[in-house]
Amino acid sequence: MSYRIQVAGTAHQFDCAEGETLLDAAQRAGFEMPYSCKKGICGSCRGGVVDGQVDCAGAHEGLSEADRARGMVLYCRAKPQGDLVIAPASISKADPSARRVVKAKVFRISRPAPDVTQLQLRFPAGVKVKFRAGQYLQVVFGENERRSFSMANPPSASDGALLHIRNVEGGSFSGNVLPTLQPGDVLNVELPYGDFYLREDSDKPIIFVASGTGFAPIHSIVEYALSRNVQRPMSLYWGARRAVDLYALDVPKKWLERSAGFRFIPVLSAPQDEDGWTGRTGFVHQAVMDDHPSLENMQVYACGAPAMTSAAREDFTSLRALPSDEFFCDAFVAGPAN
Ligand SMILES: Cc1cc2nc3c(=O)[nH]c(=O)nc-3n(C[C@H](O)[C@H](O)[C@H](O)COP(=O)(O)OP(=O)(O)OC[C@H]3O[C@@H](n4cnc5c(N)ncnc54)[C@H](O)[C@@H]3O)c2cc1C
Ligand code: FES
Repeated sequence: MSYRIQVAGTAHQFDCAEGETLLDAAQRAGFEMPYSCKKGICGSCRGGVVDGQVDCAGAHEGLSEADRARGMVLYCRAKPQGDLVIAPASISKADPSARRVVKAKVFRISRPAPDVTQLQLRFPAGVKVKFRAGQYLQVVFGENERRSFSMANPPSASDGALLHIRNVEGGSFSGNVLPTLQPGDVLNVELPYGDFYLREDSDKPIIFVASGTGFAPIHSIVEYALSRNVQRPMSLYWGARRAVDLYALDVPKKWLERSAGFRFIPVLSAPQDEDGWTGRTGFVHQAVMDDHPSLENMQVYACGAPAMTSAAREDFTSLRALPSDEFFCDAFVAGPAN
């Protein structure tokens, strides 16, 4: 059995099989709707159901209290119980040529912190892949295993991808495959994916919040914004446990020199005496709240540990009046990509 899904205010419609999520059905029918983690955590796919019933069992961290009160659902979780009328944040016909699988060559590997590897990949000569600053790719390895990693390079450097990978002990890719890679090895990657990119139709000041390797897509976005001479004030809060985990401190320091409107606030949650740390401490999203009695007129881009992005969404919207549609995030959810 399948159900008819009508998109409110448009001529778009598609079928959704029983037990299928709205997001999967829309993608199968050739539509693009916002999404990132597909696991109910990041909230990118949230939207309205104008008419009809859905089953929303599973993770719901991606919705704030306010979203829930407004009747929003996560399309990556929502399964129709009958015909529906839905109101997604956006929908368009997908460009089938936009995403591609590329055989990328390992160009350089470095380890800027004990549990972070930077992997520089080069695409084959003449192959340039279009992506938006902030989007991610899937590394395909083994028996079609897939893992998501964000591009840290801006789209102007489209002849390859720079990844910042947290080494997970026992992790199928970061623990088992990554340590064996040598320059010249070939990795299959598919890109681009995701909905974490700079909204250029806004002139609101921007707050970036990163934890750990969540710095990667923000690196891409800030490089892109500076190259485009974006004049909006930008503040980056980068959180980690120890000083050594802020593995690319020289980069935001250079951004400070390049842009008068850029601020950088590093925050450590567990500094030790040997760190010699005199900067901010605590949870990185709390540092944002300490500095901003109101976020009502801001846009926030948060990226990294799901616990951080979920707390930021909830606290910024409920305690600092951030409109929920001005919060964008990539939650680095563990496990296989889907
Ligand atoms: C959109 C997106 C972008 C991301 N970008 C980055 C990035 O730029 N840098 C970065 O460091 N990380 C990023 N991540 C997170 C990264 O994809 C995960 O941490 C991934 O699991 C690492 O793969 P691995 O093979 O090294 O470890 P895995 O083998 O996936 O293991 C990681 C952990 O997940 C657990 N796990 C394994 N299978 C499952 C499962 N089925 N369900 C739940 N847990 C499971 C394991 O026990 C282990 O604790 C991103 C994630 C998303 C969704
Ligand atoms: S894509 Fe649905 S919550 Fe992340």
